[in-house]
Amino acid sequence: MAEEQVRILSLDELRTHRSTKWRDFPSDVLPLPVAEMDFAVAEPIRALLADMVAHSDLGYLGPIPELAIAFAKFSQSRWNWSVDPEQVHTVTDVGVGVVEVLRQFTKPGDKVLLSSPIYHNFYTWMDETGLEKVDVPFLHGVDGWEMDFEGIKRAYKSGIKVHLLCNPHNPLGRVYLKEELEQIAELAKEHGVLVISDEIHAPLTFAEATFIPFLSLGPIAQEVGITVTAASKAWNIAGLKCAIVVSQSKTMNKKLALLPPATHYRASLLGGFATATAFADGEPWLNAVLKILDSNRHFLKTLLVDKLPTVRYEVPECSYLAWIDLSTLNLGENPTKVLLERGKVAFNAGQTFGPDTSQFIRLNFATSQEVLSEAVDRIVQVI
Ligand SMILES: Cc1ncc(COP(=O)(O)O)c(C=O)c1O
Repeated sequence: MAEEQVRILSLDELRTHRSTKWRDFPSDVLPLPVAEMDFAVAEPIRALLADMVAHSDLGYLGPIPELAIAFAKFSQSRWNWSVDPEQVHTVTDVGVGVVEVLRQFTKPGDKVLLSSPIYHNFYTWMDETGLEKVDVPFLHGVDGWEMDFEGIKRAYKSGIKVHLLCNPHNPLGRVYLKEELEQIAELAKEHGVLVISDEIHAPLTFAEATFIPFLSLGPIAQEVGITVTAASKAWNIAGLKCAIVVSQSKTMNKKLALLPPATHYRASLLGGFATATAFADGEPWLNAVLKILDSNRHFLKTLLVDKLPTVRYEVPECSYLAWIDLSTLNLGENPTKVLLERGKVAFNAGQTFGPDTSQFIRLNFATSQEVLSEAVDRIVQVI
């Protein structure tokens, strides 16, 4: 397929955006939090949306076989994962998908395993469903961030009902190895635990890593697992509201059929068809975006090594979120507050991702290299 060009939006254009990233801060602040990209959306998606708006085709979402078929084709060609379109269920977004699955499989007070640092809504989803969080934090070893399998085994033995997995991981940018995922699947089978695999960042995996869909591991994973995913992160269409819940076993699928029927039509019509178009026709754009992000993740490393050599940043294997340890800069309890007030630059605060990560920031590098340079310069000015 022909290579696509991705248009990086100018700051002037971005500042007209109505999304939270561009409304949360005054115009003198450079915003690098919130996982949305500063790139123009793929042309096939924009053409579809323009057509639907032009024809006032803006009603409720009904049958949409195109979506499951497009996802199955994409998963097969990109990850060699055979998905049964009959086992793909539409939901409003990944958050709603996870919450509804949790409501189906647990009762308030049940225990759910997660591993900090973790995307902050993993915590809010637990609060929303009245579930108890069991945190087994990541460890930092010689090869970078590692799952604490001894801790995970202890948690399984203590009677957890669900393991909520971020695969690949936000904010660490880790793409799990097959052996790691297999170990989880086996533990889950042994202890009767449901694994919910949030795979929203998967299409943004860089070439050196291999993303393994949890359900592609085989019968054991299919018996214990459910995947929740979306095109919203990789194709930059979070505001359109559509995600999917996928199973690969008849038993799981029967349970998913019990999800409230409203979960389907609470996704938007625009989101449903944009998602189908993303998976069907969005791969050239996605590959072009990955080239930009690949360049940016290394560019950021060079900037930090040059200008802030004591901070720690490991180049991620997927997506566009950099997890940066600023503890050597001594910026107080919440570095993001100081950087915002004194440097006019905004990041996600480490403390929202876990109990012991207040000295970290999460930086979104899906932007221009000019913005990245300016963001790092603004940190330098503060210290
Ligand atoms: C791991 C993860 N899951 C879910 C979401 C949010 O997805 P949604 O907007 O579909 O709820 C994000 C957003 O950044 C994310 O990083």
